[in-house]
Amino acid sequence: MRVVRLDREDDFDGWRSAARSLAGEGVAPEDIVWQIGDRAADLFADESLGAPPIASARPGASAAPLRVSRQLLELARYAALHSEPERFSLLYILLLRLLDQPQALQDAADPLMRRIEGLARNVRRDSHKMHAFVRFRELADDGGKRFVAWFEPDHHILRANAGFFVDRFTNMRWSILTPRGALHWDGAMLAEGPPASRTDAPGGDPVEAVWKAYYSAIFNPARVMPQAMLKEMPRKYWKNMPETALVPSLIAGARKRERAMIDQARGEPHGKTQRSGPDALVLLAEEAQECRRCPLWKPATQTVFGEGPHDAEIMIVGEQPGDNEDLAGRVFVGPAGAVFDRAMAAAGIDRARTYITNAVKHFKFEPRGKRRIHARPGSGEIEACRWWVEQERAIVRPRLVIAMGATAARSLTGRTVTVGRERGGAVVLPDGTPCWITIHPSYLLRLPPEADADAEFARYAADLRRAAKSLATIV
Ligand code: URA
Repeated sequence: MRVVRLDREDDFDGWRSAARSLAGEGVAPEDIVWQIGDRAADLFADESLGAPPIASARPGASAAPLRVSRQLLELARYAALHSEPERFSLLYILLLRLLDQPQALQDAADPLMRRIEGLARNVRRDSHKMHAFVRFRELADDGGKRFVAWFEPDHHILRANAGFFVDRFTNMRWSILTPRGALHWDGAMLAEGPPASRTDAPGGDPVEAVWKAYYSAIFNPARVMPQAMLKEMPRKYWKNMPETALVPSLIAGARKRERAMIDQARGEPHGKTQRSGPDALVLLAEEAQECRRCPLWKPATQTVFGEGPHDAEIMIVGEQPGDNEDLAGRVFVGPAGAVFDRAMAAAGIDRARTYITNAVKHFKFEPRGKRRIHARPGSGEIEACRWWVEQERAIVRPRLVIAMGATAARSLTGRTVTVGRERGGAVVLPDGTPCWITIHPSYLLRLPPEADADAEFARYAADLRRAAKSLATIV
């Protein structure tokens, strides 16, 4: 029996290094005990039970040169943070399997793969909740102001997420206390602390007013639907969140405010009220990274969310990310993006001042050899992703939208649009926003040789220009 002692619950590097050596030696999974921290499992290392233990797993120690894919490493890195006690053992079994059959990583039906993907998914979700729902409360200590938050993660995600909070709150002194350990940042150095309890964290304070104001602003039916928000905010987090004290009154007031918005929209069709600032978009984009509303997330590299100013006057909607966008995580950066950029310049529209997004946020493709060939999203996928587009629109509240291509037009209008017939004109969406329709730039990349490419391009740019110019006529 071999005992591997990992330094901590989240000691992925320790697991990786030990797993390499053990796999190199051909040690079977059932002959390994993965032990974390203390010496309790040394019982198993008793000589009567077999070989002596590996003293400790150190990154790089006697690591055999095994080659595994980035995809496996990424998956394992997340799964290793799960609270499942068997995770290190399961990962080792998977490692041995993949060394033999690398293609098993793509086998969605494989029960071990499914289990480990499930672990990784739970960990990603837990991290996402931590980003969204940690709430700091202000305290005074010897060094001055300190912001302290209490959070209860389901998994061992604390250290892995430290960078997120350091980046975001670099200039604050803060502590995040959890039952699994604590993080303390003093503006320059990060320190770890022992597990804490809820009573170590403070109650209410002035910082809460900021959160409450922020949540009241985004809890606006014209921006973020209450149901959507409640769904994304599991009840177990409510008790830590000052703004949830507002939830009953927000729900009660939602209908009234909705009425008021409609009335206001009647009198002032495209007026903007109450911008909620960029944070609402940032949160939404983070949530979208976890989107599982349709199966497209699975083969895609990542969710490619919209980008641009949170208060843009123009929102432009494309179809879906292509191969380049899927890898870069950004909209319109590939060949269609180059045509789009040229047409925007020709139309006199500043891309940096528009909000640009896609009707579908994941790349849909068919693998062909090493290539990934674009596949058109179906109506179910457009419908599933419409939820995100509507939320983007509710936050940005553009004065007009431009749908590029049939998929975008369908997403925005909710009906089938024949672009050839309706391009160059606008339809009015139920909330009063004009929606201009034009071709998708990739249409220009697929023109038959006999087509007049310059004329087609000029027509596309003219569609964009006409839409943008109509802003002057919208009061
Ligand atoms: N096509 C789109 O519709 N969107 C992109 O982001 C890229 C290509």
